[in-house]
Amino acid sequence: MAGRLLLFLCVSVTLGHAHFPPGQRLKPRIQRDRRNIRPNIILILTDDQDLELGSMQAMNKTRRIMEEGGTSFSNAFVTTPMCCPSRSSMLTGKYVHNHNTYTNNENCSSPSWQRQHEPRTFGVYLNNTGYRTAFFGKYLNEYNGSYVPAGWREWLGLVKNSRFYNYTLSRNGVREKHGAQYPQDYLTDLITSESIRYFRSSKRIYPHRPVLMVLSHAAPHGPEDSAPQYSNAFPNASYNYAPNPDKHWIMRYTGAMRPIHMEFTNVLQRKRLQTLLSVDDSMEKLYNMLVETGELENTYIIYTSDHGYHIGQFGLVKGENVRIFTGSTGSNGSTGSTVLNIDLAPTILDIAGLDTPTDMDGKSILTLLDTDKPLLLLVIVYRQFCWTLCVCCVTVGPFCACTSANNNTYWCLRTINETHNFLFCEFATGFLEYFDLNTDPYQLINGVSSLDRTVLNQLHVQLMELRGCRGHKQCNPRTRSVEPGTTPTQLHSYTTTQAV
Ligand SMILES: *[C@@H]1O[C@H](CO)[C@@H](O)[C@H](O)[C@H]1NC(C)=O
Ligand SMILES: *[C@@H]1O[C@H](CO)[C@@H](O)[C@H](O)[C@H]1NC(C)=O
Ligand SMILES: *[C@@H]1O[C@H](CO)[C@@H](O)[C@H](O)[C@H]1NC(C)=O
Ligand SMILES: *[C@@H]1O[C@H](CO)[C@@H](O)[C@H](O)[C@H]1NC(C)=O
Ligand SMILES: *[C@@H]1O[C@H](CO)[C@@H](O)[C@H](O)[C@H]1NC(C)=O
Ligand SMILES: *[C@@H]1O[C@H](CO)[C@@H](O)[C@H](O)[C@H]1NC(C)=O
Ligand SMILES: *[C@@H]1O[C@H](CO)[C@@H](O)[C@H](O)[C@H]1NC(C)=O
Ligand SMILES: *[C@@H]1O[C@H](CO)[C@@H](O)[C@H](O)[C@H]1NC(C)=O
Ligand SMILES: *[C@@H]1O[C@H](CO)[C@@H](O)[C@H](O)[C@H]1NC(C)=O
Repeated sequence: MAGRLLLFLCVSVTLGHAHFPPGQRLKPRIQRDRRNIRPNIILILTDDQDLELGSMQAMNKTRRIMEEGGTSFSNAFVTTPMCCPSRSSMLTGKYVHNHNTYTNNENCSSPSWQRQHEPRTFGVYLNNTGYRTAFFGKYLNEYNGSYVPAGWREWLGLVKNSRFYNYTLSRNGVREKHGAQYPQDYLTDLITSESIRYFRSSKRIYPHRPVLMVLSHAAPHGPEDSAPQYSNAFPNASYNYAPNPDKHWIMRYTGAMRPIHMEFTNVLQRKRLQTLLSVDDSMEKLYNMLVETGELENTYIIYTSDHGYHIGQFGLVKGENVRIFTGSTGSNGSTGSTVLNIDLAPTILDIAGLDTPTDMDGKSILTLLDTDKPLLLLVIVYRQFCWTLCVCCVTVGPFCACTSANNNTYWCLRTINETHNFLFCEFATGFLEYFDLNTDPYQLINGVSSLDRTVLNQLHVQLMELRGCRGHKQCNPRTRSVEPGTTPTQLHSYTTTQAV
């Protein structure tokens, strides 16, 4: 591994007055040359962005930036498709069973999270080794603005869940209320201008200190308020329709989508795309700023979503899902290598020259990128992984409300390699599912009864191992000694009640 990482040698470090806690050290390649500056890292996070509904097609500027040399990951997934669990996993590099935030309520930004897990996010590790760290926008759904999370020198955190107007921010611990005036209060634009201002002033005052910034947008999450200039865009956008409208058991209770639901989903799709146009503008402004400041060549830009979204698939009106697409500038091409949201923190640490802490479950995917050009844009938007599983909607009037179902707790194992692409799930009720996604991409045929007993048993054992794994050695059993990207990869997922 060390050999390949040497490609990255042109990027190095200014240690400054950085203080290294015990057990945390820079990799030798970074220590060797302290003249240069470690790369800046900018993570752009959207809320509930989809892949299969075509949201990236609405983002021409972002796509153009990526195509100037990006890597696409066609198999990128979140391990738990729900806001707070997934965000907690991104921050810590841990599966939910190791950070214990299973829903958007319990343990989300809780005192136990603050005590045990928040001091171990990538923000903390990077700040401790000399990065200038800044966070702008939505944090965790239950974050109430009463404190500034560890690790962030500059903090502009949204109180509670996504909003575009009429929200409260915590600006370095001081509450700041915003109204509904465009442009000064529009959250997407505010995140953009504040982050650009921070980056510029940081480079002016500390030209030799690398910057880590997170731009965490509310788009395209509800209430889907678009910027006024985009409120008529995509007049004909429609929801994605998959050929499995009567699949989910809950359809027996709710019945099929009626025209009024289809009109609702069309409007929803249109409004979601409209909000993304402001994120697209944000990407362009950020990119231009990096060019202007001469920092582009020394900056990794990572673009991702906390999880995916579906509208209409499986006949369900709306909900969250798991599949992701990734693209990057830094190399040009795509890879089918499987990457997970828990890989984000280890990868960010790796870019900064830090080893993966033993308690992080994810793995660095830096070696999958062409590191000749140290600029990366990673797009993660989610596809259908758990169309069947994640959502339990009941209709209330013309709309859809989400509720819990007694059997909506499940664990899945996803295996993808050159020959296989399947999903094996065990529900808390004992119900089993097996879908061969090579032949059955819409998950219409549960093949569990046709599985050989020994194969079934193997799958069960593998899944049980992952359900309890701790740390990246245990959680990446097949990739320990092999080239990443050519090996089968497992994914497991757990969810209880669903909230949107
Ligand atoms: C994106 O580019 C395509 C192809 O050039 C064009 O048809 C489409 O209108 C553009 N979309 C937006 C939102 O600008
Ligand atoms: C990257 O690939 C895209 C799509 O294949 C192509 O249009 C573009 O010109 C390539 N860019 C570079 C810098 O090679
Ligand atoms: C919350 O987290 C703590 C420790 O991290 C754990 O013991 C507890 O079971 C979790 N609560 C829920 C409801 O998951
Ligand atoms: C905010 O959350 C903290 C715990 O994280 C709690 O102690 C405090 O009472 C909460 N404040 C409000 C106003 O809800
Ligand atoms: C950042 O790291 C420095 C050095 O370790 C530490 O003194 C400071 O408290 C940290 N700041 C935050 C916001 O965590
Ligand atoms: C913001 O709050 C004002 C005053 O309560 C209200 O009139 C307006 O509709 C709200 N706007 C949005 C977009 O939430
Ligand atoms: C939308 O659909 C209408 C009716 O089919 C058509 O006249 C119009 O040109 C379409 N608009 C766009 C932007 O495609
Ligand atoms: C889930 O529960 C419903 C109602 O109790 C039942 O009809 C259905 O078969 C269950 N589905 C699974 C996958 O266990
Ligand atoms: C792919 O994974 C399956 C299931 O784990 C395994 O049986 C098969 O040998 C693997 N194929 C390759 C080419 O690694």
